[in-house]
This record gives sequence, C-alpha cells and structure tokens, in this order.
Amino acid sequence: MNQAILAITILATTVVAALSPDGTGPTGSSDCTVQAWVRAEDLAPSYVSHGELRIKVWQAHCADKIASVALRLQLDEFGEVKHLRQDAVIPEIKKADNQTLPDDLVSLGYFRASDLANEVVYDYGPYDKAMSDPEIWVVHAQERRAWSTEVTLFENNHNFSRPLVKPFIVGSPAVNFPPSFKSSRQRTSSGLHQRHVYSDLGYHYIAVVNFTDGRTVDLRAGYTTFLPTFRKPSAAPFNWNGTFAEPENCEKDLPQTRKMLDDMERCLPADLRSVFVAEVTLEDGNAIHRGSPLKGRVTVRATNGSTEMSDISVFPFLAETFHWPVERATTGGDPDFNALICHWRGFRSSEAISVDSYSYLFKTTDGKDPFSFPNDYPGGYGLLTEAKPYLDFELPIPTTTIPDFPSYYNSMVTALSIQLTVSYSLDAAKCILGADRFKRYTRDVEDERTAKDRLEEGLWDSYTPVYEEEVHVDSTLWMRSLILKTIVPIVVPGDISEQPVEHYLTPGQPSPIILSSLADGVVFLPAQPVIIEEPLADTSARLMNSEGTFDPYQSWRITTYHEVPDPAAQYNQGDYAGLLWKKKLAAEENLKETIVAVDEGDQHRFVAP
Ligand SMILES: *[C@@H]1O[C@H](CO)[C@@H](O)[C@H](O)[C@H]1NC(C)=O
Ligand SMILES: *[C@@H]1O[C@H](CO)[C@@H](O)[C@H](O)[C@H]1NC(C)=O
Ligand SMILES: *[C@@H]1O[C@H](CO)[C@@H](O)[C@H](O)[C@H]1NC(C)=O
Ligand SMILES: *[C@@H]1O[C@H](CO)[C@@H](O)[C@H](O)[C@H]1NC(C)=O
Ligand SMILES: *[C@@H]1O[C@H](CO)[C@@H](O)[C@H](O)[C@H]1NC(C)=O
Repeated sequence: MNQAILAITILATTVVAALSPDGTGPTGSSDCTVQAWVRAEDLAPSYVSHGELRIKVWQAHCADKIASVALRLQLDEFGEVKHLRQDAVIPEIKKADNQTLPDDLVSLGYFRASDLANEVVYDYGPYDKAMSDPEIWVVHAQERRAWSTEVTLFENNHNFSRPLVKPFIVGSPAVNFPPSFKSSRQRTSSGLHQRHVYSDLGYHYIAVVNFTDGRTVDLRAGYTTFLPTFRKPSAAPFNWNGTFAEPENCEKDLPQTRKMLDDMERCLPADLRSVFVAEVTLEDGNAIHRGSPLKGRVTVRATNGSTEMSDISVFPFLAETFHWPVERATTGGDPDFNALICHWRGFRSSEAISVDSYSYLFKTTDGKDPFSFPNDYPGGYGLLTEAKPYLDFELPIPTTTIPDFPSYYNSMVTALSIQLTVSYSLDAAKCILGADRFKRYTRDVEDERTAKDRLEEGLWDSYTPVYEEEVHVDSTLWMRSLILKTIVPIVVPGDISEQPVEHYLTPGQPSPIILSSLADGVVFLPAQPVIIEEPLADTSARLMNSEGTFDPYQSWRITTYHEVPDPAAQYNQGDYAGLLWKKKLAAEENLKETIVAVDEGDQHRFVAP
C-alpha cells in the first residue's frame, strides 16, 4: 500500500510551463518559464474558502513579460468502460497442435520441470487477439466538466522580478459536491483488458497566463477537495446475518483457472462443504463516525460438512460501485457485465484527500511519531474455535476515510469485509494438488508434537507467553484452506451538519464561484456541465492494446509498455492546495509564538503584497 502511495507522490511533479510558440517547452534565450501555486482552504457547502495564488517567473528578463494572470477552478469527472458487444463471442482457448512448451521456461527459473511434465499446452493466440477486436468489444470514455469558474487576479503588467502572491476566495452554495481522492490506473497482469471500468474526479486550479506578446499558457497550479456534509445518522445497535461465500472468479475463461476449479470441485464437492453464517452486532449502529473506532462482534455458525473454520479477519474497505459504466454495458448488450468485471479497476487510495494525511509535516506537541503503529495493533483478526466461535473487534476508522458519496460515474461506499479462512482435510489437499506437489509441499512438515514439546518450543521464541504452549500454527494449513467472504453494509458519513444541502446531480444546482474578494459579491449561477467525449482512437489505444497474453507460460515475456493517452492522468497532480494553506497557517502561528513583535514586517511575510 505504502509503495503505491509513494508512486503517486512521485508522479505528482510540479508543472512548469515555458513560453514557446506552442507552449510546450523552451526554444531559445527569450523564453520565459513561469510557475504557479495555489494554497487554499478545502471547499464545503455554504462556505467561503480563502486562498492565494503565487506566480514565479524564473528569468530576470521575463519579469515584465506577463500581461495578466487569471485563476480557474474546475471540477472534472472521468468515466470509462469496455464491454462486450451484443451477441459477441470471445473465441475459446483450445488445446494447441504443438504440445511442446518453450524449453527456456525451466532454465530461466520460472517453472519446475516436474510441474511442466504433464502440462497441456493451449493456444491463447485467438483469445488474446480478440481482446483488441472492435467487432467484439465496445470502448467508451468521457469527461464531465461539472463546472468551471475563473477570475483575473493580476492585470496591468506587474513586475514579476520576485514571486507575487494574490488572495482570492471561492464561494460555495448549499450543495454537496463529491469528496476527492487519489487514484491511478493499475496494469493488468496479462497486459490485456477484458471487461473493464475506471473512473476518477478532481478539482484543479489552473493559472491562465497571458504574455505581453499575446500568447497564453495554462499552468496546473494545484488541486483541492470538497467536504460534503451529512445529516446525523441513527445510532441504534445493528444486527446482521450473512452467509460466507467464495468470491466469484472472473477468469473462468482461462484453462488454468477452469482446471483449478474442476479439481476443487472433484476433490472437495461444494455441496458437501460446511455452510458458514456470520452474525454481526455493531454496538453503536452501522453508521460509522470517522475518527472513532468501530466496535462489534462477529459470531460464526457452521453446519457439519467437509470444511472447518480456522481464522477470521474484519476490515473496512472501499466497495465502490460503477453505475455509469455498468448502465452503458448492460444497455449496450452485455447483461452479465457487473458480475464479471475483474478487479483491475485501478488503485484507489482508501483515503480522501485531506490535510489529516500530512500530520507528519507538522510538529505535534505530544511528540508522537506519526509513522509508528499503535501498540495494540487493531483487533480485526483472530482464531475461531468451537469453544470460542466469535471475535470481538475494534477497528480504527481514520478521519481520512472517504465518506459515502454517489457521483456521476461511480459511488464511493465503504463496507465491512469479513474474511473467514476455512480448512479442509490433507486428503482433499492431496487430491487437489496432485501427489507430486503434495509430497513436495509436505516434505518438511513435522509429526504432531505433544503439549510438552510445544511448551518447550514456546520458550524458544519471542512471542509465546511463558507457561503457554507455542502458538500452534499448522504448517499445512496454507495448502488446504479457502478464504470465504461476506460483506456487511455500513454507512460512513462525512462532516455532520443539520443545514439542508442538495446533492450536485439534482437538476438546476448552482456551482462554486471564484472571486478576487468578497467585496465583489457572491452570486451563484446554475452549473452547466459539459460532457467531453474522448476520441475513440485514444480510448482504444488505452483499452484495446494488442500486446500481452493470458498464457501463463508467456505473459512474463511481455516487457514493453507504451505511453497511452489518459485524460484522468493529470487529475490531482501538483500540490494539494489545502496542505499548502495549512502550512501557511502553521508558519504564521509559529511566527506569532516565537518572534512575537520582533518585526512587524515578518508578520506579513505570508500575506500578499
Ligand atoms: C513446437 O514449439 C516449440 C517451442 O515453441 C518449437 O521449438 C518447435 O519448433 C515447435 N514445433 C513445430 C513443429 O512447430
Ligand atoms: C522590477 O523590480 C526590480 C526589483 O524591485 C527592479 O530592480 C526593476 O527595475 C523593476 N523593473 C521594472 C521594469 O520596473
Ligand atoms: C488573456 O488572453 C486570452 C486569449 O488571448 C483572452 O481571451 C483574455 O481576455 C486575456 N485575459 C486578460 C485578463 O487579458
Ligand atoms: C440472525 O440469526 C440469529 C440466529 O439464527 C437470530 O437469532 C437473529 O434474529 C438473526 N438476526 C437477524 C438480524 O436476522
Ligand atoms: C459431523 O460429521 C462427521 C463426519 O461426517 C461425524 O463423524 C460427526 O459425528 C458429525 N458431528 C456432528 C456434531 O454431527
């Protein structure tokens, strides 16, 4: 998770634009490089957010080349879908004529010779090729510019020999707009896309710089977010029953997946397995307050079948739904779309964009290290036994949890996932794995040890309490277990307010307005959303790529990735305006505390000239 977040941070480089005929890069000594930053409060319903625009011109000779600078703020949303055409059929993956596997598979260390010995070789060619066939698939992507608002902040040839800062405000009507979050596309493991959805949204500030010679450039100046408000939810205790099930496998087309499922069914028939039911109680109801823990109990009941429960984990996760893509797909001839979309949607940070994510940049008085885990690691995991078939949990719900919110292309919803590990017999494992692999995996497994042995063993580790037996981890468990899931519906509201607020997709709602000061008077106008269709060639370049393969013996060879067009790639690039605003406040606070009245001038270091 952390690595993924890091990757996004690296992508978020500051945009520097140069004055050149096409606005793309410096071309000679007379070129001017301009950079723009915004720091501003987050947006919220019926709220006036304050902010400042900073413009820096890098070359001394360019200080007087800027005629004017306007600041634009806009909300962009993005959605895309790839679905089957009506009555289209993806070719089956058939047994290959040539049953010889490439001979470097073993020598390169990717596979074991013994595992390849009886392997059936399939021809993935026609199947892979079908992934980029426009006769089979429909791809569609569009952006919705929900609103855009602009004000001129610098006029009349300012002297930019030093960076200049100008204040502005953004007035927001009593309307809830979506909260913003970070996301990025994930590469599929095969390099190819089957059914697919993706969506994103972003609020960005753009500085529109007019040069004295008449040229104009748009500079990304940062991004922000919106904090929708919610009515106080009910806090009645919540009881819920659900049956555990194996997650649907969306790769049933692939022979290796089919073989695995067939082996499972042959060795561990589904109707002989135990049925597990979860009974969940949430003390304070299923509406979760961000910043306080979610407390509850899950009890598991089982019928007497061929599987046994072993451990359980409970955690909140982002259970996003994609109403726009699903609607397009189902009306476009692919009725099974929703059940069959694979998980390659993109990486979503499960955090909303929030200043709370950056506490490590601000010296806290309690000296807590924000990177360290709390001592008592969140209690969302435990072993289940017949004597204690329940788990009491207490999960931290960070203040940065994305509140539930439906937007134009998708809906953000947090749900509670309960995962139950169930085990089956060693005989079934042997049947599923085949004798060879089973033998290899069990070679190191010790015989059952006595309680005395385990007491002794427990003295030789650093986690077993004294006088207790070593925490017995059955080393064969991993090869004879299944993970079952059930999803508990919960509600995560954001900030609570009793003020009536409309949802932004209700027709006729006004949109935020940017102004140079409150004195200009805030007059809201109805939003006029604009839909911008992405050219089909660009969407196809992204979703109908023809390199890559589902063949497990070939996919690792695919190493070439091409840059593809992506309108959403720039969402939330640059700096988060809310963070820079918080730094300003913290710095001013710091000045007040430490340099009180030393120099009046210093107090104004953070204020616009
Ligand atoms: C069969 O495939 C192997 C490995 O790809 C190759 O070396 C061999 O030449 C092929 N044989 C025929 C008859 O195509
Ligand atoms: C702009 O300001 C700098 C520094 O204050 C000054 O040296 C320079 O002469 C000014 N340029 C113009 C065109 O006024
Ligand atoms: C900046 O340039 C654009 C395009 O030439 C023009 O439409 C706009 O009015 C200019 N803005 C200002 C504040 O002069
Ligand atoms: C859940 O199941 C238990 C046991 O069968 C039952 O007592 C309880 O009423 C059920 N709760 C709900 C909310 O259906
Ligand atoms: C559960 O099933 C096993 C094997 O079918 C049987 O030996 C055992 O007595 C059963 N236990 C209960 C509580 O019914």
